[in-house]
Amino acid sequence: MVSVIFPAAGHGKRMGLGFNKIFTELSGKPILIQTLLTFSRCDCVDELIIAVDVNEMEVIQKVLSKIPRLKPYKIVAGGSERQYSVYNGLMAVSPDADIVLVHDAARPLISETVIQNVVNEVMLSGGAVCAVPVKDTTAEINEMGFIEKVPDRNKLWAIQTPQGFKKEILVEAHKKAQEDDFLGTDEASLVRRTGRAVKLVMGSYDNIKVTTPTDLLMAEMLFSHKTAKHV
Ligand code: CTP
Ligand code: MG
Repeated sequence: MVSVIFPAAGHGKRMGLGFNKIFTELSGKPILIQTLLTFSRCDCVDELIIAVDVNEMEVIQKVLSKIPRLKPYKIVAGGSERQYSVYNGLMAVSPDADIVLVHDAARPLISETVIQNVVNEVMLSGGAVCAVPVKDTTAEINEMGFIEKVPDRNKLWAIQTPQGFKKEILVEAHKKAQEDDFLGTDEASLVRRTGRAVKLVMGSYDNIKVTTPTDLLMAEMLFSHKTAKHV
């Protein structure tokens, strides 16, 4: 059984709307709903766990109860950091789940194909995350703003979500991070700290995280393009 945890308890500060960006509408529905609907169309997905701000639990429950065709879902309280939101979700996953995916609620452009490919790779390798080759040259800089190092671009990938793992691997990684007081920006970094390998799966350049107002414009464009293709 495959469960998916959606961290959705942020405040969207960089979006600057004054409210959680996952409520912003994309093609007539909140970003969170568009994300949940795509996962609900996947045959391989069995359960959705949504980690939301405690103050938003009631309103989200109300909105979700009116959406047809969602896979079975649970709403849990998020935490002060994304990692804590994911942990709370992990504690609510069904005992029957053997694979757990984590996907940012703020990535509504994810495709069913990528979700399936991540699940397939988790079955083979135990842990898989989707990613795309970086397009820009990247640099490490010093505190004065001067370039110190330019890593070889051919070896660099931008990591996205979904990130999927056998359940016990993700639980072990979160417990270890907690013990060590380690805060990471994604699950792969937590799992790698336990000495386990994490495989990359080709993601999609469309699978942007809606972070800034420009991303929202991009997401609108990409979403209507995606919808038009399916008509
Ligand atoms: N998230 C979460 N709990 C937190 C912080 C973030 O569940 N304490 C979620 C967000 O809702 C989002 C995902 O993690 O779906 C990725 O985080 P990000 O894009 O950084 O969203 P925000 O934290 O909301 O935005 P910002 O950092 O600009 O405030
Ligand atoms: Mg954030």
